[in-house]
Amino acid sequence: MKESKRYLVTGGAGFVGSNLVDELLRRGHRVRVLDNLTSGSLENLSESLSSIEFIKGDIRDTWTVREAVEGCDYILHQAALVSVPHSIQNPQTTNAINVTGTLNLLEAAREFRIKRFVFASSSAVYGDSDTLPITEKTIPAPLSPYAVSKLSAEWCTSVYSKVYGLPTVSLRYFNIFGPRQSPESDYAAVVPRFIQVISNGSNPIVYGDGKQTRDFIYISNAVSANLLSVESDQAIGGVYNVGCGNKFTLNTLIEKLEKINGVQIYPNHQAERPGDIMHSFADISRARLDLNYRPLVNFEDGLRMTTEWFKRKEKTIESGPITQLLKGSRIKIPESLTFHDDDTITSALLGTGKSRRSKGG
Ligand SMILES: NC(=O)c1ccc[n+]([C@@H]2O[C@H](COP(=O)([O-])OP(=O)(O)OC[C@H]3O[C@@H](n4cnc5c(N)ncnc54)[C@H](O)[C@@H]3O)[C@@H](O)[C@H]2O)c1
Repeated sequence: MKESKRYLVTGGAGFVGSNLVDELLRRGHRVRVLDNLTSGSLENLSESLSSIEFIKGDIRDTWTVREAVEGCDYILHQAALVSVPHSIQNPQTTNAINVTGTLNLLEAAREFRIKRFVFASSSAVYGDSDTLPITEKTIPAPLSPYAVSKLSAEWCTSVYSKVYGLPTVSLRYFNIFGPRQSPESDYAAVVPRFIQVISNGSNPIVYGDGKQTRDFIYISNAVSANLLSVESDQAIGGVYNVGCGNKFTLNTLIEKLEKINGVQIYPNHQAERPGDIMHSFADISRARLDLNYRPLVNFEDGLRMTTEWFKRKEKTIESGPITQLLKGSRIKIPESLTFHDDDTITSALLGTGKSRRSKGG
């Protein structure tokens, strides 16, 4: 049996992070999460909270970061300001969280001799590439402060590998989708937004003609790429595309959702948004070679599972208010978690938690 290791998952209350947490626990590892609950929520950790150490804190705070990193073997760094439109409105905050926050983690990783630092980068670094599929050799051409911040943080990560010998890997995620991805904000990713709108009986907004393409990747594939990155020595210092090696238009996505849901969808077309990319399609041969990465779940199956998950979630929410959910069996809050009142817990669940730091164990 493999030895149990301690992982720090930053952004572990978010979509990708919480799915990583579940898989790490399933494999018998110990998990610590550092998250400030800005876009993530404790609801995403409802099934794992009693089995992990949770630190409510900000990666911009160096002391919190040191506390979170000390005693860990590996770091899977997911925390970020993730929205492109939000980054256009707030370039400095984007830089502070995505670049300085990553540097804080790298510095602590160096100090505490972390065995592997995996950074969640993004296909956004490529901008609108003319040559498809996109390989890691494609020259980056960011189109937004978000993309610039991901590229800067990626370079910081690789410099820590070259200069300080910290074993790092950067993963350029393409369009990940799956359970727990938030459909809520105006800037939400396209798959959960479409699923939610369709389930409400409305029609989704499509920016542009719907012919833009995306390499959609189901969440379990991205989780597997992270865990393979920890295991592969060949990957150290490397940058890898993490997609499925397929491209689908938004119009195709809508057709597939029509079929899965048995409904007719009439998209509401609006003007393209600044910073949006027209085409995105990954060449994943480098990840295949060095990480032994293989997409395990295809687009259609992933869409079906995601739709089912959203339907189940809707039923749970319909059955009672959030505070009842908390008191029920699905959500466990450890006693040591220092949230004091129902309002704070509810706001944390809704992703609007207060900035107080809390720790459960
Ligand atoms: N989902 C995708 O398709 C996709 C694509 C490319 C890259 N990524 C990258 O993957 C990572 C995870 O994305 P996600 O989709 O799970 O987003 P998410 O918003 O669900 O998760 C991000 C998490 O980081 C936390 N966070 C934000 N700022 C923080 C801070 N200052 N300190 C501590 N925690 C903070 C949030 O509360 C949230 O839980 C991000 O780095 C993102 O840039 C995601």
